[in-house]
Amino acid sequence: MSNIEKVYQFLHDAGTYYLATVEGDQPRVRPFGTILLYEDKLYIQTGKRKDVSRQLAENPKAEVCAFMNGTWLRVSGKLVNDDRREVKVAMLDKYPGLKNMYSADDGNTQVLYFKDATAVFSSFTAAPEEIKF
Ligand SMILES: Cc1cc2nc3c(=O)[nH]c(=O)nc-3n(C[C@H](O)[C@H](O)[C@H](O)COP(=O)(O)O)c2cc1C
Repeated sequence: MSNIEKVYQFLHDAGTYYLATVEGDQPRVRPFGTILLYEDKLYIQTGKRKDVSRQLAENPKAEVCAFMNGTWLRVSGKLVNDDRREVKVAMLDKYPGLKNMYSADDGNTQVLYFKDATAVFSSFTAAPEEIKF
């Protein structure tokens, strides 16, 4: 398994992660679940109408955190918008339940990928493991 696959697999298996953005000098955090590995990039999904999308457009710096089986993962970096239809389709195909609310052509569905990212796996029992992608 490559390094980015390891990060993807952890977030996929954790099921829920928490996404932090910045609004002015105020951190904002909320639960997220969508995660997709596409062309060796780590993608998340949201709606362009959401506050989180507006915050990322103004400041792409973000961090996600997930905890599972005694290990936590933090991924920080920039979340970059990708308007390619094929990625939106791949995301919605992975999460068919989202098709109630979103479609690739609705002008709302948004996928973003991590750029200049640093991922750190941590636990109370082992040294931290850092991965850059
Ligand atoms: C378990 C769980 C997973 C979620 N996953 C996502 C997701 O992947 N993308 C998304 O846009 N919203 C997701 N949501 C909903 C967001 O947390 C919610 O819309 C939040 O209010 C968005 O942040 P904002 O209000 O700052 O825009 C999820 C909610 C829960 C409870």
